[in-house]
Amino acid sequence: MGSSARLFPRALRVPTRQNDLNALVLRNKIMWARYRSASTSTFGLRDSSLVHHQGYIDGKWVDAEDGKKFSVTNPATSEELGQVADLGLDQTKQAIEAASKAFKTWGKTTAKERHDKLMKFYQLMKEHHEDLSRLITLENGKPLKEAKGENEYSSSFLEWFAEEAVRTYGEVIPCSFATTRNVVIKQPVGVVSILTPWNFPSAMITRKLGAALAAGCTAVIKPPAETPYTCLALADLATRAGIPAGVVNIVPTHSNISDVGRELCENPIVKKISFTGSTPVAKLLYKYAASTLKKMSIEAGGNAPFIVFDDADIDAAVEGALACKFRHTGQTCVCANRIYVQSSVYADFASKLAEKVAAFRVGNGFDDETTHGPLIHEKAIEKVQKHIDDAVSRGAQLIHGGKRLEGAGSFFAPTILAEVPSDADVCREETFGPLAALVRFETEDEVIKLANDTSVGLAGYFFSRDIGRVWRVAEALEVGMVGTNTGAISQAVIPFGGVKESGLGREGSSHGIEEYMNVKYIAFGGL
Ligand code: SIN
Repeated sequence: MGSSARLFPRALRVPTRQNDLNALVLRNKIMWARYRSASTSTFGLRDSSLVHHQGYIDGKWVDAEDGKKFSVTNPATSEELGQVADLGLDQTKQAIEAASKAFKTWGKTTAKERHDKLMKFYQLMKEHHEDLSRLITLENGKPLKEAKGENEYSSSFLEWFAEEAVRTYGEVIPCSFATTRNVVIKQPVGVVSILTPWNFPSAMITRKLGAALAAGCTAVIKPPAETPYTCLALADLATRAGIPAGVVNIVPTHSNISDVGRELCENPIVKKISFTGSTPVAKLLYKYAASTLKKMSIEAGGNAPFIVFDDADIDAAVEGALACKFRHTGQTCVCANRIYVQSSVYADFASKLAEKVAAFRVGNGFDDETTHGPLIHEKAIEKVQKHIDDAVSRGAQLIHGGKRLEGAGSFFAPTILAEVPSDADVCREETFGPLAALVRFETEDEVIKLANDTSVGLAGYFFSRDIGRVWRVAEALEVGMVGTNTGAISQAVIPFGGVKESGLGREGSSHGIEEYMNVKYIAFGGL
């Protein structure tokens, strides 16, 4: 589009200057050195016994049977944090057996007993807030403030599901026969496999585990190889909360990920799978799960549209875009991926967004000034760069950032592209990085078509002050979750999940616990 040059003359663009990069590298090194020397215990935690390098099966910490370990790296420094046991197929089977044995008693506890244990687990997460947040920043890279937010979010799932445990009501249904009464009860499904991603090392565990435990299920968790330490610390706290041996089992793995993942989905003892991750992996696991027709919850990829209409409060829309595009440096499934802006407010929105993004401080998450941390690894950087290069080759205009930051750690400059054509790769696939792609549109019908022109549908956002339009657009977007006039939608109390190839089922809310229970109908006859 020819108008782009008018909007952003070269002199006004905000390049990433070399001295900024050098300062970032230096700050990063100083922070890490300071952090390490200040450490009074492993990883600098107040309670160093929360750091585990082994798997957890049937209440015991275990090395891999073949002694293998994998390395976990701090993405802000590229330094190794530690080595974790690389468990394999046999130990996965042992973990499933342990969960099955534990289910015989845990599945029969009262809802009140499970409520009490989950509340204790929740309290322990609060008590160890600083340590758990540090672990997240160390292995995932997100700024400490954001990690603290994640720990709050994560523990809120335990509180929420503790409270839901005691409300899994059944039903009495009026009967068609005079001598019979119909009753419906809910029972835990049994052993659950939980497979989680690295972008929320804590919250994606508790969102699943909290619901599973509340329902009376037992679990085998495969944490991501990038961020196993938070999950292992949570297993420790679950045990301190009095959750019995075998109820929560952790199988960290890296080199055996295909075998372990397949076993967790095919083993006939397992009755349900809950997975958060990419759509291609979700499809593979779904295929495995089909062999024994297991229940499955999937929260897979998104490609969220974020729409700014000409009647929007533009400042609010900019704040919304900052919150939802750049949360965790763009590494969430619900991040805005395509930002559609109506022509008459395009220039205003773009320049206000660029001004705010220019104030970001990218760096080590332990630096108080840091607003945005690193990407998780090199592959993530390559994907962002590929999307930028593709869009620019199709005529998009780079107005901020645009490249990797030199030095240790996997940092990428927060980037804004203007006049992105709607057939660019960034509009078709999730970027999972700090790239805001601005697409111009003219009419409501046009933007709805563009927003829905994708195989996935997790979240969608739009800003408008026209109440009619708010209803129309909220209903028209083919997604599981809509944010109108807000970029922040995630809470424990909401049904989190998508439509189309973004997944199956809902997590959180009162719907979340239902996924872990079977409905059983009992006819009481002969009255
Ligand atoms: C995700 O990115 O998978 C989860 C994001 C959230 O819970 O807000």
